[in-house]
Amino acid sequence: MEAGEAKKRIEKLRAAIEYHNYLYYVLDAPEISDAEYDALMKELLALEAAYPQFVTADSPTQRVGGAPAEAFRTVAHPLPLLSLNNAYDTGELMEFDRRVKKQTLAEPLTYVGEQKIDGLTVALLYQDGVLVQGATRGDGLRGEDVTANIRTIRSIPLKLREKIPGRVLVRGEVFMTRDSFQELNRERERAGQPLFANPRNAAAGSLRQLDPGVTATRPLDAFFYDLLLWEGAASTFPATHWEAQALLKEWGLKVNPYSRLCASIEEVVEYCREWEEKRSTLPWEIDGVVVKVNSLALQERMGTTAKAPRAKIAYKFSPEEAFTRVREIQVNVGRTGVLTPLAILEPVRVGGSTVGRATLHNEDFIREKDIRVGDVVVIRKAGEIIPEVVRVVPEHRTGTEKPFIMPARCPACGAAVYREPGEAAVHCLGASCPAQQKEKIIHFASKNAMDIAGVGPAVVNLLVDKGLIKDAAGLYDLTAGDLVGLERFGAKSAENLLAAVERSKENPPERLLFALGIRHVGEEMARRLVGHFRDLDRIFTATREELVAVPEIGEAIADSIRRYMEEAQNREFLERLRRAGLKFKAEEREAVAEPLEGKTFVLTGALAAFTREEAEEALRGLGARVTSSVSKKTDYVVAGENPGSKYQKAMDLGVPVLTEDEFLRLLADLRATEREASQRRDN
Ligand code: IVH
Repeated sequence: MEAGEAKKRIEKLRAAIEYHNYLYYVLDAPEISDAEYDALMKELLALEAAYPQFVTADSPTQRVGGAPAEAFRTVAHPLPLLSLNNAYDTGELMEFDRRVKKQTLAEPLTYVGEQKIDGLTVALLYQDGVLVQGATRGDGLRGEDVTANIRTIRSIPLKLREKIPGRVLVRGEVFMTRDSFQELNRERERAGQPLFANPRNAAAGSLRQLDPGVTATRPLDAFFYDLLLWEGAASTFPATHWEAQALLKEWGLKVNPYSRLCASIEEVVEYCREWEEKRSTLPWEIDGVVVKVNSLALQERMGTTAKAPRAKIAYKFSPEEAFTRVREIQVNVGRTGVLTPLAILEPVRVGGSTVGRATLHNEDFIREKDIRVGDVVVIRKAGEIIPEVVRVVPEHRTGTEKPFIMPARCPACGAAVYREPGEAAVHCLGASCPAQQKEKIIHFASKNAMDIAGVGPAVVNLLVDKGLIKDAAGLYDLTAGDLVGLERFGAKSAENLLAAVERSKENPPERLLFALGIRHVGEEMARRLVGHFRDLDRIFTATREELVAVPEIGEAIADSIRRYMEEAQNREFLERLRRAGLKFKAEEREAVAEPLEGKTFVLTGALAAFTREEAEEALRGLGARVTSSVSKKTDYVVAGENPGSKYQKAMDLGVPVLTEDEFLRLLADLRATEREASQRRDN
């Protein structure tokens, strides 16, 4: 290629690359693929290598260049970079508004609300549209010259999109997104390097690298918010901050898309509230909102104090993290009997409220974080989320801190507690533990257990809170006199409830066994156990060996039943149920072989005539086992609409498959046979 032609091509490529950089980094709306972009870059690099006389500092190939510095040079800012006064509540924003209004003339007063990015300030100087200097804020008058590092940040244009004569100074914030920060820390952890504490520190540490080659590998980004100087502008300098932001964007500088033009301080307050609430949903961290008078003439007129402009204010969010001390670790018993440790803290303000307690989840959480009573801890409350202990600050330890020990007895009722191997939760075993009682009664009365109509959560709450019952056995002592007159009870509803309680005494023992809510003893297991032992007392006195000898009854179930019976409270509870007249023994039945005894069924797909539960019930009523997966031991698979992989498995294994029609016919035939048999018996 001839030199003149190469020069033209180089210029064309640069313009194209800058355009695509702008689309990608500033507008976040790329038009070409990464591969196409890479191809342009590769061609430019090759041409510049062949024609080094055409390489310029503002070429997109020149982002990383130059050797590491010994130390940063400091440079004077063309204008002082001021800081901001803070407002900590809406009252202070209203005061700010009053001060502004005093200086306002006839012009309409509007504000711009902007997210206050938690990063670090940079000032960029463009000379005739070309980036010539990037500096940190420093003391506001002089900052560190980080130009070489700034140049490595992809979203910062080395050249403005228009050739702007003279000097332009813009102020912005360099930051790292939360995702990039986490990714960077993961890499550092793998490499055994110290971790950054937060995205802000990571951004600052990355920008202040002496070797720009290192900065180039760090995922930095930047937003620009203030146009501080535009020498060549004369009559074209924008009249408002809002217009200035639009101009920055046109020039190719990235501006925060969430800035808002507000017609009143009320709208500003609304903007502040909105982002205080939604801050955790943003990809970057913000620590407040910056409120700016929109009119630049008014900004000018209001002037500055020694440190800050009077026409801008930072509304600071309450921090999401705070230090405090653990006064005590309490243990609460939840509705399901799980013991949950809770840190009682010296109250601190964090995340917009005062926090005095934080859940510690379970024993393992406390051990992992090594949280002790007396420790200084970092707590975090982000958005709506409940406060959490993030970590202990071991530097504050005095040696008097006390490690936490999970109590061996339930703090609510004194019963023994139990931790299932492999699970984090510790359960209270007490049957009459007040913390668990309501939940247990609700389960006891529920449809698939004792089916006592009218005894749901609201009624159980009422009865327990009024002291009328303490446990499910108490239901059988209720009288009409107890109920009538309670809110939601009239004579009729009291009568209905008592009738339902009375009827429940007729339930077969397998229902009662399930209703007890013994861990691992679900409906199916209760049925099996009663089917085998025929009498609850035999189940409760059975040895572990006798229990595990029952098909499908494993060690976990056996142990759970044994543990239940070890509690004296539970034994007393059962005695009261017995005295109330509940059935502990299965009805005597003649030992007729059930027609499907020994057969295993698997159901798949949707049945038209039954719910899944009804179909299972019907099969079990005829003595069949119903399991959930198909194996060689499966006798039949019943396939409804859209059967799943179980159908395929049955086909593969050669297990017979029944359609719904065939299944219905089978049930009808078997039931008819049973009826005939029982009629014969009765005659
Ligand atoms: S305006 C005269 N706007 O907050 C001060 N600052 O606490 C002009 N910051 O040093 C600053 N986002 O580093 C402004 N949208 C924003 C900002 C912002 C973050 C930082 C900036 C400043 C600090 C003041």
